[in-house]
Amino acid sequence: MTRYGFCGLKVIAGFTAALAFSTLLAFAQTDATPPSPRKGIVIWDVPAFDALPDDENGPLARYGRSIIEATYAHIGPEAVNPEARYAGNNLACANCHLHAGLKKFGLPLVAASADYPAYSSRTGTVSSIFDRVNQCLKRSMNGRPMPEDERPMQAILAYLKVLSTHIPTEATIVGAGAGSMPEMDRAADPSRGAAVYAHTCADCHRRDGLGVRRNEALPNMGYAVPPLWGPDSFNDGAGTARLITLANFVHDNMPNGTSWIAPTLAPEDAWDVAAFVLSQPRPQLAGIDRDFPDLLLKPVDAGYPPYADSFSVEQHRFGPFAPIRAEIARLRETRGEVPNPNSP
Ligand code: HEC
Ligand code: HEC
Repeated sequence: MTRYGFCGLKVIAGFTAALAFSTLLAFAQTDATPPSPRKGIVIWDVPAFDALPDDENGPLARYGRSIIEATYAHIGPEAVNPEARYAGNNLACANCHLHAGLKKFGLPLVAASADYPAYSSRTGTVSSIFDRVNQCLKRSMNGRPMPEDERPMQAILAYLKVLSTHIPTEATIVGAGAGSMPEMDRAADPSRGAAVYAHTCADCHRRDGLGVRRNEALPNMGYAVPPLWGPDSFNDGAGTARLITLANFVHDNMPNGTSWIAPTLAPEDAWDVAAFVLSQPRPQLAGIDRDFPDLLLKPVDAGYPPYADSFSVEQHRFGPFAPIRAEIARLRETRGEVPNPNSP
Protein backbone atom coordinates (compact mmCIF):
# COMPACT_ATOMS: atom_id res chain seq x y z
CA MET A 1 0.00 0.00 0.00
CA THR A 2 1.33 3.45 -0.81
CA ARG A 3 2.04 6.20 1.61
CA TYR A 4 -0.92 8.32 0.45
CA GLY A 5 -3.35 5.39 0.49
CA PHE A 6 -2.32 4.65 4.05
CA CYS A 7 -2.86 8.30 5.02
CA GLY A 8 -6.29 8.24 3.41
CA LEU A 9 -7.36 5.29 5.54
CA LYS A 10 -5.95 6.89 8.64
CA VAL A 11 -7.91 10.06 7.98
CA ILE A 12 -11.16 8.09 7.82
CA ALA A 13 -10.30 6.13 10.97
CA GLY A 14 -9.25 9.35 12.72
CA PHE A 15 -12.47 11.04 11.70
CA THR A 16 -14.55 8.19 13.10
CA ALA A 17 -12.52 8.28 16.32
CA ALA A 18 -13.06 12.05 16.58
CA LEU A 19 -16.80 11.57 16.11
CA ALA A 20 -16.87 8.86 18.77
CA PHE A 21 -14.90 11.08 21.14
CA SER A 22 -17.16 14.11 20.69
CA THR A 23 -20.16 11.83 21.22
CA LEU A 24 -18.65 10.66 24.52
CA LEU A 25 -18.09 14.24 25.61
CA ALA A 26 -21.70 15.14 24.81
CA PHE A 27 -22.79 12.09 26.82
CA ALA A 28 -20.73 13.15 29.83
CA GLN A 29 -22.32 16.60 29.76
CA THR A 30 -25.97 15.70 29.25
CA ASP A 31 -26.46 12.21 30.76
CA ALA A 32 -28.56 11.38 27.67
CA THR A 33 -28.15 8.13 25.74
CA PRO A 34 -25.34 8.73 23.24
CA PRO A 35 -26.41 8.54 19.60
CA SER A 36 -24.38 6.02 17.65
CA PRO A 37 -21.73 7.81 15.58
CA ARG A 38 -22.74 8.32 11.95
CA LYS A 39 -20.61 6.04 9.85
CA GLY A 40 -20.24 6.23 6.13
CA ILE A 41 -21.32 3.35 3.91
CA VAL A 42 -18.14 1.68 2.67
CA ILE A 43 -19.52 -1.08 0.43
CA TRP A 44 -21.84 0.39 -2.18
CA ASP A 45 -24.51 -2.18 -2.88
CA VAL A 46 -25.66 -1.20 -6.38
CA PRO A 47 -28.20 -3.34 -8.26
CA ALA A 48 -27.02 -5.01 -11.48
CA PHE A 49 -28.52 -2.89 -14.26
CA ASP A 50 -28.45 -5.61 -16.86
CA ALA A 51 -30.47 -7.86 -14.54
CA LEU A 52 -33.26 -5.32 -13.99
CA PRO A 53 -36.54 -6.75 -15.30
CA ASP A 54 -37.82 -5.59 -18.68
CA ASP A 55 -40.73 -3.76 -17.05
CA GLU A 56 -41.26 -0.02 -17.45
CA ASN A 57 -38.31 0.95 -15.25
CA GLY A 58 -35.49 -1.45 -16.25
CA PRO A 59 -35.08 -0.32 -19.88
CA LEU A 60 -35.53 3.34 -18.83
CA ALA A 61 -32.72 3.06 -16.25
CA ARG A 62 -30.47 1.35 -18.82
CA TYR A 63 -31.22 4.15 -21.30
CA GLY A 64 -30.24 6.57 -18.51
CA ARG A 65 -26.92 4.78 -18.06
CA SER A 66 -26.30 5.13 -21.79
CA ILE A 67 -26.98 8.89 -21.57
CA ILE A 68 -24.51 9.22 -18.67
CA GLU A 69 -21.84 7.32 -20.63
CA ALA A 70 -22.48 8.78 -24.11
CA THR A 71 -24.16 12.10 -23.36
CA TYR A 72 -22.76 13.67 -26.55
CA ALA A 73 -24.60 11.15 -28.75
CA HIS A 74 -27.99 11.46 -27.02
CA ILE A 75 -28.28 15.12 -25.97
CA GLY A 76 -25.04 16.79 -27.17
CA PRO A 77 -24.81 19.87 -29.42
CA GLU A 78 -24.44 17.65 -32.50
CA ALA A 79 -27.02 15.01 -31.51
CA VAL A 80 -28.98 13.64 -34.48
CA ASN A 81 -32.28 15.05 -33.20
CA PRO A 82 -31.88 18.87 -32.99
CA GLU A 83 -34.63 19.13 -30.36
CA ALA A 84 -32.67 16.82 -28.04
CA ARG A 85 -29.61 19.13 -28.00
CA TYR A 86 -29.55 20.16 -24.36
CA ALA A 87 -25.83 19.76 -23.59
CA GLY A 88 -23.70 22.56 -25.01
CA ASN A 89 -20.47 20.55 -25.22
CA ASN A 90 -19.51 17.06 -26.34
CA LEU A 91 -18.48 15.80 -22.92
CA ALA A 92 -20.09 12.81 -21.23
CA CYS A 93 -21.41 12.98 -17.68
CA ALA A 94 -19.12 9.98 -17.07
CA ASN A 95 -16.01 11.96 -18.09
CA CYS A 96 -16.31 13.50 -14.62
CA HIS A 97 -18.67 11.09 -12.81
CA LEU A 98 -16.22 8.29 -13.48
CA HIS A 99 -17.36 4.71 -14.12
CA ALA A 100 -20.84 6.15 -14.73
CA GLY A 101 -20.92 7.44 -11.14
CA LEU A 102 -19.57 4.32 -9.42
CA LYS A 103 -15.96 5.31 -8.64
CA LYS A 104 -14.95 6.28 -5.11
CA PHE A 105 -13.72 9.90 -5.08
CA GLY A 106 -14.46 10.08 -8.82
CA LEU A 107 -17.52 12.32 -8.16
CA PRO A 108 -19.79 9.30 -7.57
CA LEU A 109 -23.54 9.50 -8.12
CA VAL A 110 -24.41 6.52 -5.94
CA ALA A 111 -26.00 8.61 -3.17
CA ALA A 112 -27.31 11.47 -5.34
CA SER A 113 -30.94 10.37 -5.51
CA ALA A 114 -30.96 9.77 -1.72
CA ASP A 115 -29.26 13.16 -1.08
CA TYR A 116 -32.06 15.26 -2.62
CA PRO A 117 -34.14 17.32 -2.12
CA ALA A 118 -31.44 19.40 -0.44
CA TYR A 119 -30.78 23.06 0.26
CA SER A 120 -28.57 24.61 -2.41
CA SER A 121 -26.46 27.54 -1.19
CA ARG A 122 -25.82 28.41 -4.86
CA THR A 123 -29.49 29.13 -5.59
CA GLY A 124 -30.64 29.76 -2.01
CA THR A 125 -33.53 27.33 -2.52
CA VAL A 126 -34.31 23.68 -1.86
CA SER A 127 -33.34 21.77 -5.00
CA SER A 128 -34.68 18.49 -6.25
CA ILE A 129 -32.44 15.91 -7.93
CA PHE A 130 -33.99 17.10 -11.21
CA ASP A 131 -32.81 20.71 -10.52
CA ARG A 132 -29.35 19.36 -9.65
CA VAL A 133 -29.01 17.46 -12.93
CA ASN A 134 -29.97 20.66 -14.77
CA GLN A 135 -27.24 22.56 -12.90
CA CYS A 136 -24.69 20.15 -14.41
CA LEU A 137 -26.33 20.50 -17.83
CA LYS A 138 -26.06 24.29 -17.63
CA ARG A 139 -22.58 24.50 -16.13
CA SER A 140 -20.52 21.31 -16.55
CA MET A 141 -22.07 20.70 -19.97
CA ASN A 142 -22.36 24.42 -20.82
CA GLY A 143 -25.92 23.81 -22.07
CA ARG A 144 -29.55 24.51 -21.22
CA PRO A 145 -31.95 22.96 -18.72
CA MET A 146 -34.08 20.00 -19.84
CA PRO A 147 -37.79 19.88 -18.88
CA GLU A 148 -38.65 17.21 -16.32
CA ASP A 149 -41.02 15.32 -18.60
CA GLU A 150 -38.48 14.84 -21.43
CA ARG A 151 -37.65 11.18 -21.84
CA PRO A 152 -33.85 11.60 -21.52
CA MET A 153 -34.38 13.43 -18.21
CA GLN A 154 -36.74 10.71 -17.00
CA ALA A 155 -34.07 8.17 -17.96
CA ILE A 156 -31.27 9.99 -16.10
CA LEU A 157 -33.47 10.24 -13.00
CA ALA A 158 -34.39 6.53 -13.28
CA TYR A 159 -30.69 5.63 -13.49
CA LEU A 160 -29.83 7.74 -10.45
CA LYS A 161 -32.73 6.26 -8.51
CA VAL A 162 -31.62 2.70 -9.16
CA LEU A 163 -28.06 3.62 -8.11
CA SER A 164 -29.41 4.82 -4.74
CA THR A 165 -31.70 1.81 -4.18
CA HIS A 166 -29.82 0.57 -1.09
CA ILE A 167 -28.59 3.96 0.18
CA PRO A 168 -30.80 5.25 3.03
CA THR A 169 -31.89 8.90 2.82
CA GLU A 170 -29.30 11.19 4.42
CA ALA A 171 -26.73 8.39 4.71
CA THR A 172 -23.14 9.34 4.04
CA ILE A 173 -21.00 7.24 1.72
CA VAL A 174 -17.26 6.77 2.04
CA GLY A 175 -15.72 7.99 -1.20
CA ALA A 176 -18.15 10.86 -1.87
CA GLY A 177 -17.04 13.83 -3.95
CA ALA A 178 -13.46 14.05 -5.11
CA GLY A 179 -11.64 13.76 -1.75
CA SER A 180 -10.04 16.38 0.45
CA MET A 181 -6.27 16.27 0.50
CA PRO A 182 -4.42 18.72 2.75
CA GLU A 183 -4.24 22.30 1.48
CA MET A 184 -1.00 24.21 0.94
CA ASP A 185 0.13 27.25 2.94
CA ARG A 186 0.98 29.00 -0.32
CA ALA A 187 -1.15 29.88 -3.34
CA ALA A 188 -1.32 27.24 -6.06
CA ASP A 189 1.10 28.22 -8.82
CA PRO A 190 -0.08 28.03 -12.47
CA SER A 191 3.44 28.42 -13.88
CA ARG A 192 4.75 25.49 -11.85
CA GLY A 193 1.56 23.68 -12.89
CA ALA A 194 2.37 24.26 -16.57
CA ALA A 195 5.47 22.09 -16.17
CA VAL A 196 3.46 19.37 -14.38
CA TYR A 197 0.89 19.53 -17.20
CA ALA A 198 3.49 19.14 -19.94
CA HIS A 199 5.01 16.20 -18.12
CA THR A 200 1.91 14.36 -16.80
CA CYS A 201 -1.20 15.34 -18.75
CA ALA A 202 -0.32 16.59 -22.23
CA ASP A 203 0.29 13.13 -23.73
CA CYS A 204 -3.43 12.40 -23.31
CA HIS A 205 -5.21 15.77 -23.04
CA ARG A 206 -2.79 17.31 -25.62
CA ARG A 207 -0.64 20.40 -25.24
CA ASP A 208 -3.51 22.63 -26.37
CA GLY A 209 -5.83 21.06 -23.75
CA LEU A 210 -8.46 20.29 -26.37
CA GLY A 211 -8.38 16.53 -25.89
CA VAL A 212 -8.77 13.85 -28.56
CA ARG A 213 -12.05 13.33 -30.43
CA ARG A 214 -12.98 9.77 -31.36
CA ASN A 215 -13.60 10.98 -34.89
CA GLU A 216 -12.70 14.48 -36.09
CA ALA A 217 -15.58 14.50 -38.60
CA LEU A 218 -18.19 13.23 -36.13
CA PRO A 219 -18.25 15.32 -32.94
CA ASN A 220 -21.30 13.40 -31.69
CA MET A 221 -19.01 10.44 -31.08
CA GLY A 222 -17.47 12.35 -28.20
CA TYR A 223 -13.92 12.17 -26.94
CA ALA A 224 -11.40 9.42 -26.34
CA VAL A 225 -9.80 12.01 -24.04
CA PRO A 226 -12.00 14.97 -23.06
CA PRO A 227 -10.88 18.62 -23.31
CA LEU A 228 -9.80 20.49 -20.15
CA TRP A 229 -10.36 23.98 -21.51
CA GLY A 230 -11.42 25.74 -24.74
CA PRO A 231 -14.87 26.10 -26.32
CA ASP A 232 -16.00 22.48 -25.80
CA SER A 233 -15.17 22.33 -22.06
CA PHE A 234 -17.14 23.01 -18.86
CA ASN A 235 -17.87 26.70 -18.18
CA ASP A 236 -16.58 29.02 -15.45
CA GLY A 237 -19.70 28.45 -13.31
CA ALA A 238 -19.10 24.68 -13.03
CA GLY A 239 -18.04 22.90 -9.83
CA THR A 240 -14.99 21.58 -11.66
CA ALA A 241 -13.93 25.21 -12.29
CA ARG A 242 -13.20 25.49 -8.55
CA LEU A 243 -9.63 24.76 -7.51
CA ILE A 244 -10.37 22.53 -4.51
CA THR A 245 -12.71 20.28 -6.48
CA LEU A 246 -10.44 20.06 -9.51
CA ALA A 247 -7.18 19.51 -7.59
CA ASN A 248 -8.70 16.68 -5.55
CA PHE A 249 -10.32 15.12 -8.61
CA VAL A 250 -6.99 15.15 -10.43
CA HIS A 251 -5.08 13.85 -7.40
CA ASP A 252 -7.43 10.91 -6.87
CA ASN A 253 -8.16 10.03 -10.50
CA MET A 254 -5.56 11.24 -12.98
CA PRO A 255 -3.68 10.11 -15.05
CA ASN A 256 -6.86 8.22 -15.99
CA GLY A 257 -6.97 4.83 -14.29
CA THR A 258 -5.47 6.15 -11.04
CA SER A 259 -7.32 5.23 -7.84
CA TRP A 260 -7.49 7.23 -4.61
CA ILE A 261 -5.79 4.23 -2.96
CA ALA A 262 -2.61 4.92 -4.90
CA PRO A 263 -2.43 8.47 -6.27
CA THR A 264 0.47 9.12 -8.59
CA LEU A 265 0.68 12.91 -8.31
CA ALA A 266 2.09 14.55 -5.19
CA PRO A 267 -0.58 16.83 -3.65
CA GLU A 268 1.54 19.89 -4.44
CA ASP A 269 1.66 18.95 -8.13
CA ALA A 270 -2.11 18.35 -8.17
CA TRP A 271 -2.79 21.83 -6.70
CA ASP A 272 -0.47 23.52 -9.16
CA VAL A 273 -1.63 21.67 -12.26
CA ALA A 274 -5.26 22.43 -11.33
CA ALA A 275 -4.33 26.14 -11.09
CA PHE A 276 -2.73 25.90 -14.52
CA VAL A 277 -5.83 24.29 -16.04
CA LEU A 278 -8.08 26.95 -14.47
CA SER A 279 -5.91 29.78 -15.89
CA GLN A 280 -6.77 28.67 -19.42
CA PRO A 281 -9.73 30.08 -21.41
CA ARG A 282 -13.15 28.39 -21.14
CA PRO A 283 -16.80 29.25 -21.88
CA GLN A 284 -18.32 31.88 -19.60
CA LEU A 285 -21.77 31.56 -18.09
CA ALA A 286 -23.79 34.80 -17.92
CA GLY A 287 -25.23 35.80 -14.55
CA ILE A 288 -22.97 33.82 -12.21
CA ASP A 289 -22.53 36.98 -10.11
CA ARG A 290 -26.09 36.24 -8.91
CA ASP A 291 -25.09 32.81 -7.49
CA PHE A 292 -25.08 32.39 -3.69
CA PRO A 293 -27.72 34.79 -2.32
CA ASP A 294 -25.94 34.57 1.07
CA LEU A 295 -22.29 35.30 0.30
CA LEU A 296 -21.16 33.70 3.57
CA LEU A 297 -22.23 30.35 2.07
CA LYS A 298 -20.20 30.87 -1.12
CA PRO A 299 -17.35 28.33 -1.34
CA VAL A 300 -13.99 29.98 -0.62
CA ASP A 301 -12.65 28.81 -3.99
CA ALA A 302 -15.49 30.16 -6.18
CA GLY A 303 -13.45 31.98 -8.82
CA TYR A 304 -15.85 34.85 -9.45
CA PRO A 305 -17.03 37.81 -7.32
CA PRO A 306 -18.85 39.20 -5.41
CA TYR A 307 -17.49 37.99 -2.08
CA ALA A 308 -18.46 38.67 1.52
CA ASP A 309 -14.82 39.35 2.42
CA SER A 310 -12.20 41.65 0.91
CA PHE A 311 -9.67 39.02 -0.22
CA SER A 312 -8.66 39.32 -3.89
CA VAL A 313 -10.27 37.31 -6.70
CA GLU A 314 -6.79 35.86 -7.22
CA GLN A 315 -6.65 34.47 -3.67
CA HIS A 316 -10.15 33.02 -4.02
CA ARG A 317 -9.06 31.29 -7.23
CA PHE A 318 -5.73 29.89 -6.09
CA GLY A 319 -5.58 30.10 -2.28
CA PRO A 320 -4.29 29.97 0.34
CA PHE A 321 -7.81 29.43 1.68
CA ALA A 322 -7.32 29.16 5.46
CA PRO A 323 -7.22 32.97 6.01
CA ILE A 324 -10.42 33.36 3.93
CA ARG A 325 -12.18 30.66 5.97
CA ALA A 326 -11.18 32.36 9.21
CA GLU A 327 -12.57 35.68 7.98
CA ILE A 328 -15.83 34.04 6.83
CA ALA A 329 -16.21 32.40 10.25
CA ARG A 330 -15.68 35.80 11.92
CA LEU A 331 -18.25 37.48 9.65
CA ARG A 332 -20.76 34.72 10.34
CA GLU A 333 -20.35 35.33 14.09
CA THR A 334 -20.79 39.08 13.76
CA ARG A 335 -23.22 39.46 10.85
CA GLY A 336 -25.05 36.13 10.45
CA GLU A 337 -25.45 36.59 6.71
CA VAL A 338 -24.17 38.85 3.94
CA PRO A 339 -26.79 39.21 1.17
CA ASN A 340 -25.48 39.14 -2.40
CA PRO A 341 -26.36 42.55 -3.90
CA ASN A 342 -26.86 40.94 -7.35
CA SER A 343 -29.24 38.15 -6.26
CA PRO A 344 -32.91 38.64 -7.05
C1 HEC B 1 -3.70 8.18 -19.81
C2 HEC B 1 -4.35 9.35 -20.37
C3 HEC B 1 -4.64 10.50 -19.39
C4 HEC B 1 -3.73 11.22 -18.66
C5 HEC B 1 -2.21 11.06 -18.61
C6 HEC B 1 -4.50 12.22 -17.95
N1 HEC B 1 -5.82 12.10 -18.24
FE1 HEC B 1 -7.36 13.26 -17.53
N2 HEC B 1 -8.69 12.07 -18.45
C7 HEC B 1 -8.39 11.04 -19.31
C8 HEC B 1 -9.62 10.39 -19.75
C9 HEC B 1 -9.72 9.23 -20.74
C10 HEC B 1 -10.66 11.06 -19.09
C11 HEC B 1 -12.15 10.70 -19.16
C12 HEC B 1 -12.41 9.54 -18.23
C13 HEC B 1 -13.67 8.77 -18.52
O1 HEC B 1 -14.48 9.21 -19.33
O2 HEC B 1 -13.82 7.68 -17.92
C14 HEC B 1 -10.05 12.14 -18.31
C15 HEC B 1 -10.77 13.06 -17.56
C16 HEC B 1 -10.21 14.19 -16.97
C17 HEC B 1 -10.96 15.27 -16.36
C18 HEC B 1 -12.48 15.39 -16.26
C19 HEC B 1 -13.14 15.62 -17.59
C20 HEC B 1 -12.85 16.96 -18.23
O3 HEC B 1 -12.69 16.97 -19.46
O4 HEC B 1 -12.78 18.00 -17.55
C21 HEC B 1 -10.03 16.16 -15.88
C22 HEC B 1 -10.31 17.45 -15.15
C23 HEC B 1 -8.71 15.63 -16.16
N3 HEC B 1 -8.86 14.42 -16.83
C24 HEC B 1 -7.52 16.24 -15.84
C25 HEC B 1 -6.26 15.67 -16.03
C26 HEC B 1 -5.03 16.27 -15.59
C27 HEC B 1 -4.89 17.62 -14.93
C28 HEC B 1 -4.03 15.39 -15.92
C29 HEC B 1 -2.56 15.48 -15.59
C30 HEC B 1 -2.24 15.49 -14.18
C31 HEC B 1 -4.64 14.25 -16.59
N4 HEC B 1 -6.00 14.46 -16.64
C32 HEC B 1 -3.95 13.16 -17.09
C33 HEC B 1 -7.13 10.63 -19.70
C34 HEC B 1 -5.95 11.06 -19.13
C1 HEC C 1 -17.03 18.70 -16.02
C2 HEC C 1 -17.38 17.72 -15.03
C3 HEC C 1 -18.83 17.29 -14.88
C4 HEC C 1 -19.69 16.85 -15.86
C5 HEC C 1 -19.40 16.70 -17.33
C6 HEC C 1 -20.93 16.57 -15.20
N1 HEC C 1 -20.84 16.81 -13.86
FE1 HEC C 1 -22.29 16.45 -12.46
N2 HEC C 1 -21.06 17.21 -11.01
C7 HEC C 1 -19.79 17.67 -11.20
C8 HEC C 1 -19.27 18.18 -9.94
C9 HEC C 1 -17.90 18.77 -9.71
C10 HEC C 1 -20.30 18.01 -8.98
C11 HEC C 1 -20.29 18.39 -7.51
C12 HEC C 1 -19.85 17.18 -6.74
C13 HEC C 1 -19.89 17.41 -5.26
O1 HEC C 1 -20.37 18.45 -4.82
O2 HEC C 1 -19.45 16.48 -4.57
C14 HEC C 1 -21.42 17.39 -9.69
C15 HEC C 1 -22.62 17.02 -9.08
C16 HEC C 1 -23.62 16.31 -9.70
C17 HEC C 1 -24.78 15.77 -9.03
C18 HEC C 1 -25.08 15.86 -7.54
C19 HEC C 1 -24.39 14.71 -6.83
C20 HEC C 1 -24.65 14.68 -5.34
O3 HEC C 1 -24.62 13.58 -4.76
O4 HEC C 1 -24.85 15.75 -4.75
C21 HEC C 1 -25.54 15.14 -9.97
C22 HEC C 1 -26.85 14.39 -9.76
C23 HEC C 1 -24.85 15.29 -11.24
N3 HEC C 1 -23.69 15.99 -11.04
C24 HEC C 1 -25.29 14.77 -12.45
C25 HEC C 1 -24.66 14.99 -13.67
C26 HEC C 1 -25.20 14.56 -14.94
C27 HEC C 1 -26.50 13.78 -15.12
C28 HEC C 1 -24.33 14.96 -15.90
C29 HEC C 1 -24.46 14.84 -17.40
C30 HEC C 1 -25.69 15.35 -17.96
C31 HEC C 1 -23.21 15.61 -15.21
N4 HEC C 1 -23.47 15.63 -13.88
C32 HEC C 1 -22.09 16.11 -15.86
C33 HEC C 1 -19.07 17.63 -12.38
C34 HEC C 1 -19.57 17.25 -13.62
